[in-house]
Amino acid sequence: MSLATEGRRVTALDIRARKGGEPIVSLTSYHAHTARIIDPFVDFILVGDSLGMVMHGFETTIPVTLDMMILQGQAVMRGSRHALVVVDLPFGSYEESPAAAFRAASRVMKETGCGAVKLEGGRRMADTIRFLTERGIPVMGHVGLTPQSVNTIGGFKVQGKEDASAFAVRRDAEAVAESGAFAMVVEAVVEPLAREITRSVAIPTIGIGASPECDGQILVLEDMLGLSDWVPKFVHRYGTLAGHIEEAVKAYAGDVRKRAFPAAENTYAAKPQAETPRKRSGA
Ligand code: KIV
Repeated sequence: MSLATEGRRVTALDIRARKGGEPIVSLTSYHAHTARIIDPFVDFILVGDSLGMVMHGFETTIPVTLDMMILQGQAVMRGSRHALVVVDLPFGSYEESPAAAFRAASRVMKETGCGAVKLEGGRRMADTIRFLTERGIPVMGHVGLTPQSVNTIGGFKVQGKEDASAFAVRRDAEAVAESGAFAMVVEAVVEPLAREITRSVAIPTIGIGASPECDGQILVLEDMLGLSDWVPKFVHRYGTLAGHIEEAVKAYAGDVRKRAFPAAENTYAAKPQAETPRKRSGA
């Protein structure tokens, strides 16, 4: 079971207080039903903009809109009662200025009821993170591989392999921590860098492809369940759902074709007719 919070939802402050303690557990979810299943076991649920790739089949997260994030954020809030729900701000909704970011983030908070937002970027987003947190919006940062920048970083590549890149990611992480974020995702960085960042910043680091050195871990649910076609090196498949779904659908198709489904127990019978009393002869 996850964080003990006496029946209330986990907050951003609860997560912040877990720095250096028991590892923080997180998964993504985009739906009410998966949120309901994972809610008792995780500390926070991320409604990630990876939903664009996972649910909609886009090649990147770039096409995801604020309306898409709000719709799935609402579903996850309806499906969960315990975990903190964090909703990603999608590409184009926050980078222009702190005021634009506030407009997008406040819409997300009002329309979903979630407890925090996440945005990508280090030093370049520090003023925005400060602007939002000073105005009541808890912000989770995201450094290392930032998928919304795929077109400028040249692909989904591991970060921090060379000294210059490691230095840049470390400075990004420090800027995020100093600007008031309550936690940060560290994505696809080499292990020594994840360790250094985790030791040097005062807020929890949540790793994805960033080694066990982080204060917590996050995975995309569909990847760890074995629903995605391709899984990166850093994912362990804890399930093989695609195979189970295929077997179930094959069995259903076979039953329909040979009229074995629906069976009698799946069929509504008509209400038995009340017998009309026979007239007695001579009555
Ligand atoms: O969108 C997402 O799912 C994410 C995780 C990869 C951290 O940002």
